[in-house]
Amino acid sequence: MTQDQTERHVMVASLMLLVLFIGLSFFVVSIAQASPAPDRAADSATFRTKCATCHGPDGSGSEVGKSMHVPDLRSPDVQKVPDAQLAQIISDGKGGMPPFKSSLGENQIHSLVSYIRSLRGKK
Ligand code: HEC
Repeated sequence: MTQDQTERHVMVASLMLLVLFIGLSFFVVSIAQASPAPDRAADSATFRTKCATCHGPDGSGSEVGKSMHVPDLRSPDVQKVPDAQLAQIISDGKGGMPPFKSSLGENQIHSLVSYIRSLRGKK
């Protein structure tokens, strides 16, 4: 092998490595974006900090909540309520439940509605 050929082999090899590396980075990024896990975690964190004091971490109702007669969020009674109405209750409050429209954005309220949906059937 001449000096020239060796150089070319090294070039081709490093080019292939570079392409492989770029491909791998795209792959990792697309996995990270496709995974809903981080959002889910954020939703449940919001629920735990804003709602669990009354509704319990699983939606069944905490001690405080039970004394206020909170409904079990996993129950069919709550689950049959349409998304828009749940969002409105979270936003404006209801009975002993405070309104959250000033402390939560619309997106957060919608995420909480889907979080409540994810509790369905966990009873
Ligand atoms: C201070 C206690 C308290 C907190 C905090 C609270 N709730 Fe409530 N929630 C209640 C009470 C009490 C009710 C029952 C209201 C009624 O029917 O009179 C209720 C009812 C509900 C209902 C059922 C409404 C229905 O009629 O079907 C949903 C859904 C709900 N809360 C979601 C949430 C979410 C989401 C959060 C957090 C952003 C939250 N709540 C925070 C006390 C609370």
